[in-house]
Formats: sequence, C-alpha cells, structure tokens
Amino acid sequence: MAKRKSIANELPAEPPSARRPRAVVVGASSGIGAAIARRLAAGGYIVAALARRKNELDKLCNGINRAAGETRALAYQHDAMDLASIPLTFQGLLKDLGGIDALVYVAGVTLKVEMDEFNLEKDRQMIETNLMGAVAWLGAGAALFQRMKAGTLVGISSVAGDRGRVLNPAYNASKAGLDAYLEALRNRLTRHGAHVLTVKPGFVDTEMLKATPRKFGVISPERVAAGVWSAMRSRKQLVYLPWYWRWIMLAVRTTPSFIFRRLSF
Ligand SMILES: NC(=O)c1ccc[n+]([C@@H]2O[C@H](COP(=O)([O-])OP(=O)(O)OC[C@H]3O[C@@H](n4cnc5c(N)ncnc54)[C@H](OP(=O)(O)O)[C@@H]3O)[C@@H](O)[C@H]2O)c1
Repeated sequence: MAKRKSIANELPAEPPSARRPRAVVVGASSGIGAAIARRLAAGGYIVAALARRKNELDKLCNGINRAAGETRALAYQHDAMDLASIPLTFQGLLKDLGGIDALVYVAGVTLKVEMDEFNLEKDRQMIETNLMGAVAWLGAGAALFQRMKAGTLVGISSVAGDRGRVLNPAYNASKAGLDAYLEALRNRLTRHGAHVLTVKPGFVDTEMLKATPRKFGVISPERVAAGVWSAMRSRKQLVYLPWYWRWIMLAVRTTPSFIFRRLSF
C-alpha cells in the first residue's frame, strides 16, 4: 500500500478557471520517469510522483517545487508489484489531487540474465513490474478517462518489445505485452475522446542501461521527456525516440526468422 499524506492543503489555491491539470507518474524516482515528472511540472501540471525509493522522490519533488516557487510535485511511496494495492492507491490520488488528467506508467526493471539462464524469479519480477503493474495502473486510468471522455494515458515501452531476442526473453515479452495492451486501450478509448500514447525509446542514459551489454545512439532522459511532452500535446499514438528507431525496428521486424535466430542480440 502506498504511504499517502493528504496534500489538499499543500496545493496552491486556484480559481476553477485557472485549474492546473493533474498527472500521475508511476516510476518517477530516477531516469526517464524523473525527467518526465520535471517536464510535466514545467509545463503546468501538478504531478504525483510514485516509486519505491521515497528519498529519491523527495529530492525530485523538492527540486521541482523550489524551481516553481510553489507546490507542483508530491511524492508517494509505492511498489507496483503490489498489485492489490493499486485500485485503492489510484482512488486515494484521485481524491488528494482533486482529479487526474494524465497517467504515465514508466516503472520498469531489466535484470541481467545469461544466454543459457532460465530464471523464473527474475522473469516474474520483470513481467510483474513492466506489464502487470502497467495493466493495473493504466486500466484504472482507462476506466476513469472513459467516464470523463478526456485524459491522456502514456506507457513507456521499448524497442525491445518489437521482437523476441536471445538476450532477455522475459523483458522482450513484458514490453511486447505492454504494446498490445496500450493498443487495445487506444482502440477502446479513442471513441470516448481520451488519448493513449505508446512510447518506444532506444538506448537512454539511465541506471537501467548499465545492464545492457551493447548500445549505440544513447540519448538523455531529458530528450525522452521532451519527446513524450511533444507527443502528448500533438496527441500522437506511437512514438519511437529518437525517431530513427522506427526505421531500424521496421528492418528488425521484417528480418526473416531463419536469419534473426542466428543473431546474437
Ligand atoms: N534506459 C533505457 O535504455 C530504456 C530504453 C527503453 C525503455 N526503457 C524503459 O524506461 C522505463 C524507465 O527506465 P529508466 O531507463 O529510466 O531506468 P531507471 O532509472 O532504473 O528507472 C526505473 C524506474 O522504475 C521504478 N520502478 C522499478 N520497479 C518498480 C516498482 N516495483 N514499483 C514502482 N516503481 C518501480 C524505479 O523506481 P524505484 O526503484 O524507486 O521503485 C525507477 O523510478 C522502464 O520501463 C524501461 O523499461 C528504458
């Protein structure tokens, strides 16, 4: 269960005509999630930042609030593997924030697995965090946004979801599952006026990248956040970041299986 503190009194007074939109970022304590939380706050959102490491969230929120000169970000400790707690946590945030206009699911783990390793515990952790946590959070957001006939759902997937590869099968599967789930939500919600965005970054300079043996064209988390912000505003459905990954992955997806299974990435 998330440790919540009531924030109703911390938020700046706003006349209804100047109400700031509210965003929830799950997985905001470092890397891409922290950069997205900062970008949303700079763009005028009040942000609820969730993750397990409360001290990192506090540092993030203090930095945002100091720069804004008022409360724009609030920290909530949360473990996305605790699926049972998510509906209640979602309802608590809805009440604390006085509404939710955007929900961004960023939380993810990549655990190092050897080429000949099949480890159920590692696989379970990746699938529960990257996929099941996403399903629980994005599903709760979808139910709200369907009723509101508005709102934006964002899922941070990966180019790794485009094909099953030899290095980390469960990570690939978690991101492929997330892609399909986001597409299905988009197909349900677009007719109700809500927006669903799938984001597929390539290599990003974060803690997670340390587990990746080969990398190229590494970009900063801030560049991903800028791409997410721009795609949210222009209501894009799917973005690769940087853009050229769309073409790289088109080539990867169309490589025949008899060739692909001989490759070592
Ligand atoms: N870095 C890359 O090259 C890259 C490329 C493509 C996609 N991505 C995706 O981008 C997302 C963010 O990763 P990152 O690169 O920014 O790495 P990161 O710095 O390690 O960030 C991972 C974030 O997920 C949170 N998280 C992990 N397990 C969680 C849990 N059980 N409950 C709640 N939060 C949890 C972490 O917070 P706590 O540890 O505090 O809980 C942290 O805020 C991931 O979904 C990843 O798959 C990364």
